[in-house]
Amino acid sequence: MIFKQDNIIVGLEVGTSKVCAVVGEAGPDSVANIVGVGKVPSHGVRKGEIVDSAKAEEDIRAAVAEAEKSADIEIQSVLLGVTGNHIRGFNNRAVHNITSEEGEIGEDDVEDVMRQARNISLPAENEIIHAVRQRFHVDRQEGIVSPVGMLGSRLEVDVHVVHGQRNRLQNPIRRVRELQLQVEAVVFNGRASAMSVLTREQGEQGALLIDLGGGTTEFVAVTGGNHRHSGVLPVGGDHVTNDISVGLKISNSRAEEVKLSHGRATPDSSVNGGTLTFNSELGLSDHSVKLEHLHTVMHARLEEIFQLIRTDLEPAGILRELHGGVYLTGGGSRVSGITELASEVFGMPAAMARNQLDSGLQEVLGQPEYSSAIGLVKYGAQNLDNVRGRGPWRRFKNGLQRLVGRR
Ligand SMILES: Nc1ncnc2c1ncn2[C@@H]1O[C@H](COP(=O)(O)OP(=O)(O)O)[C@@H](O)[C@H]1O
Ligand SMILES: [Mg+2]
Repeated sequence: MIFKQDNIIVGLEVGTSKVCAVVGEAGPDSVANIVGVGKVPSHGVRKGEIVDSAKAEEDIRAAVAEAEKSADIEIQSVLLGVTGNHIRGFNNRAVHNITSEEGEIGEDDVEDVMRQARNISLPAENEIIHAVRQRFHVDRQEGIVSPVGMLGSRLEVDVHVVHGQRNRLQNPIRRVRELQLQVEAVVFNGRASAMSVLTREQGEQGALLIDLGGGTTEFVAVTGGNHRHSGVLPVGGDHVTNDISVGLKISNSRAEEVKLSHGRATPDSSVNGGTLTFNSELGLSDHSVKLEHLHTVMHARLEEIFQLIRTDLEPAGILRELHGGVYLTGGGSRVSGITELASEVFGMPAAMARNQLDSGLQEVLGQPEYSSAIGLVKYGAQNLDNVRGRGPWRRFKNGLQRLVGRR
């Protein structure tokens, strides 16, 4: 199959557990069809950030090569997902006075207020990743979607700003560019996953997306259809494995195996008294562990992760606005009993999220590990002209675009 290169969008996630490249073909109506995928285990990443450049580069090269083969195309550019404990989000409101004689709001006023919204004072070493437009307000009228053509003297806009440390953001960008690949956009993984799995309706009702990865957990709250809150915890499925290893006195690789085969996020009374017996490791005698113990250890860590997210959301009062519930994705969400646990901690319904693209390779769409990369493809399809430097984003050249070295 031959695809028109211009419509090809590649989402790249350099995760702690895996590096994956998902290839999409943008069709009419900004919809993307998934046409290829490459995924390899990750060796150079800890807690979502590159700690071994050479290994990370090798893994990116391998994932991209596999994706090229799978989609039968040559990949020249990617949209890159980023994460890490340095990434933060906050909401900002900017104000702009309308100076036109008749007081009619024009495109220029909207641009001006958006420019101001981005013009926030961050620590010098930080860079904005996203300044997501929420609602406008004209004079005292709140919640305006499109103010152009309205009359008013004062235009305000709410934005959700996601930012991170420049040098740490630059690490994965540089690895990709070393491979002669262009980075077309940098997107926070949590935002990408939310784009992949949350429906418009869920976003309107208010929903919390949690992406449980290997070394990080990203979360994004969407309320009233707007991205309202972002966070990253430097904790994920690997910590669950580590706790099992310590708690059950077994090796890390065996702990991972046990987690995948017998793990549970909530205690299960039907296993009471059940045990698992292992052949000896390192010449020690046979070893058996209680399933109940395994589940208790996993429950403690996963409950802590959810509690930390809850605590992060509480001051902003967002929990009360989440009428659509909690949606879980990422490899770490595969553990049984996880939705019950989330529902208990957040006090609202919780469900496994589903990637909301309905066309393309089912082996990609059906897997929670791919949510970020699929979301990147969706982000690219919805913003194709901007990503390819042909849309209004040209006017908002910010530091991050300088980092990725776009024309
Ligand atoms: N069936 C399962 N039960 C529990 N954890 C799982 C299961 N399958 C995968 N995981 C965990 O998911 C994590 C990897 O998820 P992934 O989303 O690929 O991470 P990342 O995006 O950080 O690379 C690992 O910690 C792995 O142990
Ligand atoms: Mg991930």
